[in-house]
Order: sequence, then C-alpha cells, then structure tokens
Amino acid sequence: PSEKDFMGKNLYSYQGSWYYPSTLQAILNFQKHFRARDSDIILASFPKSGTTWLKALVFAVVHRNKYAPNLVSHPLLSDNPHNLVRFIELDLYVKNQRPDLEELPSPRLFATHMPFQTLHDSLRDSPCKVVYMCRNIKDVLVSRWHFRSNVVRKELYSNYSLEDMVDDFIKGVYSLGPFDDQVLRYWKESLVNSNPVLFMRYEEMIEKPEVQVMRLADFLGCSFTEEEKQSGTVEKILELCSFGNLSNLETNKTGTSVCGVAPHAFFRRGGVGDWKNHLTDEMARKLDEMVEKKLGGSGLKFE
Ligand code: A3P
Repeated sequence: PSEKDFMGKNLYSYQGSWYYPSTLQAILNFQKHFRARDSDIILASFPKSGTTWLKALVFAVVHRNKYAPNLVSHPLLSDNPHNLVRFIELDLYVKNQRPDLEELPSPRLFATHMPFQTLHDSLRDSPCKVVYMCRNIKDVLVSRWHFRSNVVRKELYSNYSLEDMVDDFIKGVYSLGPFDDQVLRYWKESLVNSNPVLFMRYEEMIEKPEVQVMRLADFLGCSFTEEEKQSGTVEKILELCSFGNLSNLETNKTGTSVCGVAPHAFFRRGGVGDWKNHLTDEMARKLDEMVEKKLGGSGLKFE
C-alpha cells in the first residue's frame, strides 16, 4: 500500500482509505479470518457520526424480547455500548487476535469504521445486514477535533487547529478518511436492492426518532408489533438510549476504557449544528465546496 506522513506518523492507503499501521494490520487479519453468518448485523459509520448511539439502539431493538427496555438489569445500564457491540478492526481483530466468534448467538452484532469495499467478500456477498449511520460533515469534523484534541492521540494533536483539520478533510488524507468517499459509497450501496444496506442519518434520528427506530426495526426483520407500539416500547427504547440517560450512567462516566478510550469520551454534547459555534464562514465555505464537488449529482446532501 502507498504511504504518507501524517504529523510524523505513517498512514497507509488500502482499498481507498488511510490507516495507521495497527488498524491496517487488524483489517488484514479480519479479511483473512472472519466468517460471516447470514444473520450477522454490521453497524458501519465514520467515527463521530453517532456510532455509540447506533450501537445502543440496535442492541436494545434486537434484544428487546430478552431485555425489556425498562428492565432494571438491562445490559445498557451496566455496560458500555462499545462492549456490547464490538468493533471489528479496533477491538476484535487487533494485535493479530483471532477471536472465537462461533459461540456467539445469532444475530451477532458487530461494528466497523471500514468502508464498504473493505468489508470481507464473505460478508459483502452474504445476506447479512449493514446499517450505516451518516452525520453531516461539519458536525463530524468538529466532534472529531474535540475527540482528537482531548482524548485520542492528544499529544499528537496538541498543536493541531480546526483549520488544519478542515484542510486535511479537503485533502482526504487522515486516519480512516476520506469521510466523503465512505459516505458516498454506502449511500450508493443502500440504493441497490440486492444489498441489504440501511442508510440512516444522525439528523433524522434527532428530528424523528420514533419513525427512524421503527424503520431500523423493519430493516432488521424485527418490526414493532401494534401491541408494542401501543404500550410505548419504541419510546422506552429511545429513552434508554438517549444522550441524557447514557451519558449519566455510572458505567459510562467512570467505566473502564474501551479500545483505549474512556467511555465518557463518546458523549460530548450531541445534537445538530454545533459546527456553527466553531467553524468560521471560510472553513464552512471550503467544506461546502468540497462536498458539492464530491457528492454533487449523487442525490446525497448534508442538511
Ligand atoms: P458531539 O461530539 O457532536 O457531541 P461516535 O459515537 O460515532 O463516536 O459519535 C460521537 C458523537 O455522538 C458525539 O457528538 C456524541 O456526543 C454523540 N452521541 C453519543 N451518544 C449519543 C446519543 N445517545 N444520542 C445522540 N448523540 C450521541
């Protein structure tokens, strides 16, 4: 793979995306050893698009018969969503581990930040379902900048300004980037009937959460019954997985780290449009221009 220097660290390009060596190694390990099951559910996203929220929601929806959303011993009340739905390339397959996933009951839930093309053939060609969470590029960028400056690789990012990140997003060279290529590819795949890819948007989840969670359940083949709708199951799941609830749980405030990150770091502010408090008009204009160039004509727009 080709190589680029990113703030003194090596980034490698593989199948159209950039990775630190440890992540690339995990991906190669996954591609070699993972065996998909038709019932698998894969949650895909670019970091900071609402992955934690999606993990919690899918876990709660899929397991609602086993764990009612108002159960006092619900796993989401005592464990972090990242432990309940683990990342393929940042957790399961790191350091040449070969996790035994055969024992896991169906449906198995996994998460990934990999682009569509990098999901293993056996997974891509199987009828297993992929849910993609998309968030507008400006909120993703601002969320990522806070996360990088305060949490992950913070020494590396100590002199890295928001403007630097805007420029890197425009160049497309950064870990797991380019964001726009990833979003566009999942968007296109979601339009092809033969591929079970559900394209969800963070902004729509904020705006009409009930509608979106029902859509999610329909896609996953576990639609809410009339009785469940009447008895408020959808609302209870949303409450359980809400920012306010999850971010205030002891397990997410002080719990042990997941993939080297303290769980509280996945909850910052939530919501739509925080970019307006951070990006200058010039930064926003540059991003709009790039998005227009990349996504124009695809039918995909950021709100
Ligand atoms: P902000 O930094 O804009 O607040 P990811 O889970 O992909 O790392 O994304 C993290 C972003 O999702 C953060 O955005 C975080 O606050 C927000 N988030 C986390 N849990 C959420 C929830 N339950 N509902 C809505 N947003 C949530």
